Amino acid sequence: MLKKKDKYIIAVVGATGVVGNEMLKILEERNFPIEELRLFASERSEGKTLNFHNKAVPVEMLGETVFKGIDIALFSAGGERSKHFAPIAVKAGCIVIDNSSVWRMDPDVPLVVPEVNPDDLKWHKGIIANPNCSTIQMVVVLKPVHDAAKIKRVVVTTFQSVSGTGKKAMDELLHQTTDILNFKDVKPNVYPHQIAFSCLPHIDKFMEGGYTKEELKMVNETKKILGDDSIKITVTTVRVPVFRCHSESVNIETEKKLPANEVRALLSTTPGIIVYDVPEENLYPHPADVAGKDEVYVGRIREDESIKNGINMWIVADNLRKGAALNAVQIAEKLIEAS
Ligand SMILES: NC(=O)c1ccc[n+]([C@@H]2O[C@H](COP(=O)([O-])OP(=O)(O)OC[C@H]3O[C@@H](n4cnc5c(N)ncnc54)[C@H](OP(=O)(O)O)[C@@H]3O)[C@@H](O)[C@H]2O)c1
Repeated sequence: MLKKKDKYIIAVVGATGVVGNEMLKILEERNFPIEELRLFASERSEGKTLNFHNKAVPVEMLGETVFKGIDIALFSAGGERSKHFAPIAVKAGCIVIDNSSVWRMDPDVPLVVPEVNPDDLKWHKGIIANPNCSTIQMVVVLKPVHDAAKIKRVVVTTFQSVSGTGKKAMDELLHQTTDILNFKDVKPNVYPHQIAFSCLPHIDKFMEGGYTKEELKMVNETKKILGDDSIKITVTTVRVPVFRCHSESVNIETEKKLPANEVRALLSTTPGIIVYDVPEENLYPHPADVAGKDEVYVGRIREDESIKNGINMWIVADNLRKGAALNAVQIAEKLIEAS
């Protein structure tokens, strides 16, 4: 458990990455009570500094002995680092909030979205997992619908931005786009095919049965967060040439009928959600508008006329903020509230 203090020693592991960078911005914006900020990355970043509250903070090399005295460590340095270093950090007395997928389905690790299942924080044993970015924005919306009408089945297709793959993928989209516009040949590197001016129905590796690992993450994580294995979910994840924000087309079948206007009213009063849905004025959420925002945006809410109790909607959120860094910082804030 976190010991109550006025200010905390906080570490960001993977501070030089896109999620790490966003974490620094969010900690600063929310005036998180920080006594000391420690930044860690690989040996490639040793000697660099990053700006925090107008001070240059040195980036240190991650190692097994660095965690002593740190209260909370926000990990976003990839699965291998999380697997190896999170238990070491916990042994040193630190609480780890982990952005990778390695701990998410561990039965001893709560998987938390603060608007959805904050009570799961009560049973953590040192590691708390941050869900997948596409899962987070979907469950924020599914939760109130499930509570009101019990969800039977969800069919979702995602349109995920390249920042979900990290900095190298953002550089790849930029370079491929400029190369194509300059009539140069394009060589894919991060993705198996050209991503600029295209889209790839392929996120993470293919698994038995033809689904990708990302698709299965969304299925399994949603059931764990909502605490309901009976919900049927089928997912297709697509990478699109967008820098920031994931969009999702979501079809929900419920046990009880929920008319579209009731869904609109319900979601409008749910914390963390903004309903942006005036089709006659061409108003619906889209990545260019939602990038940099904290809330989950919902539009195109309409009844699915092909089934008895069905709703279609379009959900957009900033994958680097609510999908990663913001959710992790909100978990840390909840831990402080409870201490
Ligand atoms: N991007 C997203 O939307 C998103 C969403 C949810 C979760 N995540 C997860 O967050 C993590 C980071 O993602 P990202 O998108 O920020 O990736 P990224 O931009 O590629 O950044 C990776 C970070 O990890 C550090 N790192 C790599 N190898 C390391 C090592 N051996 N020791 C210490 N640090 C090391 C890098 O440091 P150097 O700069 O020194 O190489 C960098 O700070 C991943 O686990 C990812 O799955 C990402």
